[in-house]
Amino acid sequence: MCGIIGILGNHEVSPQLVDALKRLEYRGYDSAGVATVDATGQLSRRRAVGKLVNLSDLLVHRPLTGHAGIGHTRWATHGAATEVNAHPHQSGPVAVVHNGIIENFRELRAELADRGIMPESQTDTETVALLTAHHLDQGLSPVEAARATLARLQGAFALAFLFQDEPDLLIAARKGSPLAVGHGDKEMYLGSDAVALAPFTDRITYLEDGDHAVLTRAGVQIWDAEGHQVHRATARIDVGATVIDRAGHRHFMAKEIAEQPVVIGDVLNHYVKGDRIVLPDGLDFAGLDRVTLVGCGTAHLAGHVAKYWFEQLAGLPCDIDVASEFRYREPPLSDRSLFIAVSQSGETADTLAALHYARGKVARTVGLVNVGTSAIARDADMALPTLAGIEVSVASSKAFTCQLAVLAVLALKAAHDRGRLDDAALTAHLRDLRAIPALLAQALALADDCRMQADWLAQARDVLYLGRGGLYPVALEGALKLKELSYIHAEGYASGELKHGPIALIDGDVPVVVLAPHDALFDKTISNMQEVMARHGQVLLISDAAGIAAAGDGITASLALPTGGGVFQPILYAVPMQYLAYYTAVAKGTDVDQPRNLAKSVTVE
Ligand code: F6R
Repeated sequence: MCGIIGILGNHEVSPQLVDALKRLEYRGYDSAGVATVDATGQLSRRRAVGKLVNLSDLLVHRPLTGHAGIGHTRWATHGAATEVNAHPHQSGPVAVVHNGIIENFRELRAELADRGIMPESQTDTETVALLTAHHLDQGLSPVEAARATLARLQGAFALAFLFQDEPDLLIAARKGSPLAVGHGDKEMYLGSDAVALAPFTDRITYLEDGDHAVLTRAGVQIWDAEGHQVHRATARIDVGATVIDRAGHRHFMAKEIAEQPVVIGDVLNHYVKGDRIVLPDGLDFAGLDRVTLVGCGTAHLAGHVAKYWFEQLAGLPCDIDVASEFRYREPPLSDRSLFIAVSQSGETADTLAALHYARGKVARTVGLVNVGTSAIARDADMALPTLAGIEVSVASSKAFTCQLAVLAVLALKAAHDRGRLDDAALTAHLRDLRAIPALLAQALALADDCRMQADWLAQARDVLYLGRGGLYPVALEGALKLKELSYIHAEGYASGELKHGPIALIDGDVPVVVLAPHDALFDKTISNMQEVMARHGQVLLISDAAGIAAAGDGITASLALPTGGGVFQPILYAVPMQYLAYYTAVAKGTDVDQPRNLAKSVTVE
């Protein structure tokens, strides 16, 4: 997380820095700051706590001049969200912005303290500025000083250095965290991603792990981790510079929920032609013995739903794990297995590290990503786009259902390749899948009902979500959405698991959201729901008309989804999960699109 930007321009850069930071605010919004070098060589900075708008306001009252600058939007790791902890961190003639974590900063701080050099902030990043200033004091040039500092750093970082009296110099370095160099017309740019640079240039060079770069207006020189000067390719990356708007919706989240019928339709048009599944060559499941799915948060839950599809439809054993556990667990992987990294951003540090762990150990790695220019897309053997379009709201909605749609296609392909589904059965399942966009459009009509239920949920301290089979991970997703948007404590459970402990939580004040389509598992889930009601739990049943009719009396409220979609119903049930969380957040007045403490791209582990 944290977004960084650097510009060597030919005009005043502070408005451009702020514009780029707007496009990086999804990476964090605890504080923001910019530093510039003006025509006299003076290095100055401005920093403000909270959203970027506070920095913009500050710059109106205390403008910064200069054609060279760096900027930062922060997701706090070390030290609270205060002005003194905000980036850029400056020590005398050097200012630094950083994304990542300097793991040995305590050791470096102690060394600096021995020399009488004391930090003013609690951050790991300030150590980088202090160390570089110390190297400059010893007579090193800016490039030498930055190199000497980089040689001491352990951990993950994308860094940009700006120097007093050096209006034509930016130094950049990356290890672990992503960093892109943009080429303009006698101007150079640096950014956490190509999206930040889109208004300025589409000519992008991605730095590789361990690289550091020296930028001047004449171009960029790059050195690899071994200190060899290297050439890195420059490509045209079209991410669109257009301003993204809410299209009349109150929040991006509402817009993104409403887009689902269209974007899922796009996914299916892309991957299914008639009765044929169209995937890149080489994705043959016949010889595979296992699928391993890894992701974080909502992306992990998409993989969790897909486990049911891979195992039930294709008879293919499927492991699913959160990336942060997978990467350090040293799981043995079969060279006949497929590894799928699921990620909206394609930059999530743990998911990327899990992908790197799997590389070379499995038959093939696949990156299921929404951002096609991301590190996971580039580093996987094969990238499959989830085609959700830009997702701005920090809480994932349409990216989740698009991930599910692509995973459903993959599971059907696996089932067909492995002879578990003949052509006729495949056609029948594809018919169910193709029904989903129209069913989603009907499900959107539940918005008003969800808003009414949300008034009730907004009063709760705790909410439980129950589901069975493929609806169990959707229950987990419902609880996750409610927590992150409304700050209400919520838990998802497999319905059958409730009586093994969590049922002790039930009393008349705990709303219990039960997901129970009228399918083969319906009676089992309804029995669990009865156990809740027998203990005065207040049930909100989400089912279809047949399910609601069959569920009996005593339910506090119900929401009826359309029938159809076959085994792919979990995609449909995601919609009330999203709307309940959304309207509960609206009722509570929380910041729906940028909930507290979160960031959209999680580039630290
Ligand atoms: C929840 C949410 C997060 C992300 C998670 C992974 O609404 O959005 O849980 O799903 O941080 O992010 P990506 O998919 O970018 O790897």
